[in-house]
Amino acid sequence: MSGGACQGLPASLPKTHGQPLWLLAELTYKCPLQCPYCSNPKDFAGFNDNELSTDEWVRVFEEGRKLGAVQLGFSGGEPLVRQDLDILIREARQMGYYTNLITSGVGLNERKVESFRDAGLDHIQVSFQASDETVNNMLAGSAKAFQQKLKMAREVKAQGYPMVLNFVTHRHNIDQIDRIIELCIELEADYVELATCQYYGWAFENRQQLMPTRAQLERAERITNEYRVKLAAQGHPIKLIFVTPDYYEERPKACMNGWGQVFLTVTPDGQALPCHSARMLPIEFPNVRNMSLQKIWDESPGFNHFRGDDWMQEPCRSCDEKDKDFGGCHCQAYMLTGDATNADPVCSKSEHHDLILEARAEAELPATEPLLFRNERNSRVFYKG
Ligand code: FES
Repeated sequence: MSGGACQGLPASLPKTHGQPLWLLAELTYKCPLQCPYCSNPKDFAGFNDNELSTDEWVRVFEEGRKLGAVQLGFSGGEPLVRQDLDILIREARQMGYYTNLITSGVGLNERKVESFRDAGLDHIQVSFQASDETVNNMLAGSAKAFQQKLKMAREVKAQGYPMVLNFVTHRHNIDQIDRIIELCIELEADYVELATCQYYGWAFENRQQLMPTRAQLERAERITNEYRVKLAAQGHPIKLIFVTPDYYEERPKACMNGWGQVFLTVTPDGQALPCHSARMLPIEFPNVRNMSLQKIWDESPGFNHFRGDDWMQEPCRSCDEKDKDFGGCHCQAYMLTGDATNADPVCSKSEHHDLILEARAEAELPATEPLLFRNERNSRVFYKG
């Protein structure tokens, strides 16, 4: 990726960051499904032949632990595509990580659930596309996906794991929120992530086809709250997490809890990023193949780029909320305005906030284009430019 005008911190400046508590290992971009809201880069097909080896990942995990990382997420693409997953889990667990597998469940079977447990895996997150089989399979691009997910969610619980069920919500499934919650209760989920679609990667490409109306969102949130009250009264242990609908807020989210503060992701080909979308920014990020994680975290220009507030323009610079949201999401600012140092347009103080208002207005209209699915063929078109 071409370099921007970023510079590392001068030696005299105080350290403005802690340790990377959360390490996300994107083991592969390969995936049997084709969700149109996938946050992977649109040109992922160009990086598929250059995945880190087992030994390289183990070294990354060791360096992460030395830096203080405690949580390790195995993600993708679909991490089950990696044949060395149980080795990676075992190694990471022996280093003392709390390990979490983030999977579609496609490619999972009883034997694997068992072998991952033997390797020490702590936690499994299974994602669904919808509570309705037809919608689920349409979005996933697989006629068997829904039944497989049901089977695997049951298997995960039968083998004693804590389980998160994740549903990305958008205009195709949000009106079934009550059925989604009922399904999660039936499957005995411990946590349910009702993840309002965030518009990055493929989701940004499909925003008009995915974004729900404000009325749809408000109804979904109301129903979720009603379930919370009802379930709490029954003493039910399930936890419902409703992810904030970014585009309907007036202040931006504190993306990643601040740039380079607690989160570090490593892509399948070894690029180290402060968030899962940063690959698209005109900033040069280091690769774990030629720099240690400690150097990357503490010294690399990419990780220091948005630390502190020297980079801020107005209105963020003089805003009394800048320590709360850090200017919002840089990737979103870049996608929408072409400049990652702008305030996130979600903020009503941003001079670009009209872009968010336009997207809200667009959400009231029927979609004019079909969904663009995330698959190798479509990705190659983006890769070739
Ligand atoms: Fe990259 Fe928000 S996703 S800073």
